[in-house]
Amino acid sequence: RCKQRLLVVANRLPVSAVRRGEDSWQLEISVGGLVSALLGVREFEARWIGWAGVNVPDEIGQKALTKALAEKRCIPVFLDEETVHQYYNGYCNNMLWPLFHYLGLPQEDRLATTRSFQSQFDAYKRANQMFAKVVNNIYEEGDVVWCHDYHLMFLPQCLKEYNNNMKVGWFLHTPFPSSEIHRTLPSRTELLRSVLAADLVGFHTYDYARHFVSACTRILGLEGTPEGVEDQGRLTRVAAVMLGVDRLDMIKGIPQKILAFEKFLEENPSWRDKVVLIQIAVPTRTDVPEYQKLTSQVHEIVGRINGRYGTLTTVPIHHLDRSLDFHALCALYAITDVALVTSLRDGMNLVSYEFVACQGSKKGVLILSEFAGAAQSLGAGAILVNPWNITEVASSIGYALNMPADEREKRHLHNFMHVTTHTSQEWAATFVSELNDTIVEAQIRT
Ligand code: UDP
Ligand code: G6P
Repeated sequence: RCKQRLLVVANRLPVSAVRRGEDSWQLEISVGGLVSALLGVREFEARWIGWAGVNVPDEIGQKALTKALAEKRCIPVFLDEETVHQYYNGYCNNMLWPLFHYLGLPQEDRLATTRSFQSQFDAYKRANQMFAKVVNNIYEEGDVVWCHDYHLMFLPQCLKEYNNNMKVGWFLHTPFPSSEIHRTLPSRTELLRSVLAADLVGFHTYDYARHFVSACTRILGLEGTPEGVEDQGRLTRVAAVMLGVDRLDMIKGIPQKILAFEKFLEENPSWRDKVVLIQIAVPTRTDVPEYQKLTSQVHEIVGRINGRYGTLTTVPIHHLDRSLDFHALCALYAITDVALVTSLRDGMNLVSYEFVACQGSKKGVLILSEFAGAAQSLGAGAILVNPWNITEVASSIGYALNMPADEREKRHLHNFMHVTTHTSQEWAATFVSELNDTIVEAQIRT
């Protein structure tokens, strides 16, 4: 049997392009959980459709880039600068992202956001249409179209308008917030309706799926069933599919983490010259003002702590504003004693999974925020913390560093078992086979 064709549609392609000349391009691996999760999927004949992270206004550049990407089985969606500004920087990352992670905006930003809402939402819909057009061009009967994340909530509906027989799935990599939060979005109804046009809607945890169903019942007045959401006899299935170092993002709780580390040093002078915090803070969404503010805030705190506890030969925090390649990152995971994941909210958090997977012999300790999706699967092996409680995080650091070997081994084994049995391969296979089943069931129902 030949492999089923899978069209993966995500805003971010697994490679991002850097221009080297009029018709020459360099491709770099993109950073983020979505890309990592999907690169692990090998069972399907996958093509990617998405944005290459760069503005290409000229035809020569577009042609050359399309060709370079084709070798990676990627098909670009070209978004102009204004669209990127309004859709990606604006609606996606200044509106949906903070809202889905329960982050409030400062009052003045909130007002500004409210004012620019309509033009940003229009750009969002326009951008989603552009993705739909590219998908429709390469779609062949029998393909499965798998849409990803908050950037493309409008896409399922656009695709079904092109072709109602397309098999369309949509998966959210962030939390889906309580319906009380979703209600505050001016576009709340349109977004839900559009997502419901998909045949299968997936989330990382059961809680997120539950929030989504309750938003559909409260806001759209539809009937929520244990299997999904029903609208005039048409069922959209909703499923929680579980899967197993930070971008410099507000949701990662980096300042909270560093402040907790400072408190630990303050209270434990004997550890001061024995422990180093390596923080890889990958620059991300650098055109969004909130992210720029965060960068200077983190730099300020790191500078203060290093100034306070540094010596002529060492500093307590090695802070890097850059990404590492996969092998360097794995090596770092492998030699780490304690991993600190302090996300204020996080869809899943793959870094915690990768750390566990790389800790074969060392059996290091994972300190994990209870607000990361991963807490639901790695909670028994990790030390769970509330990242807002700096005292608790500081004492957990002490607890982790002093943990006896037998307890470390027991905790590690627990997590290792989970991570090695819940692979991204299995996650994707389950999602796609449920999507195929959904279509068969729907055909039987009619
Ligand atoms: N990552 C990377 N290089 C880096 C830092 C991170 O390749 O320097 C990868 C990391 O291996 C992980 C992903 O980026 O797979 C981050 O995923 P996660 O789910 O933890 O968070 P997200 O960035 O999606 O919010
Ligand atoms: C999160 C989102 C992904 C996104 C990634 C990196 O993991 O869920 O959709 O690709 O962050 O962010 P960026 O804005 O650089 O694509």
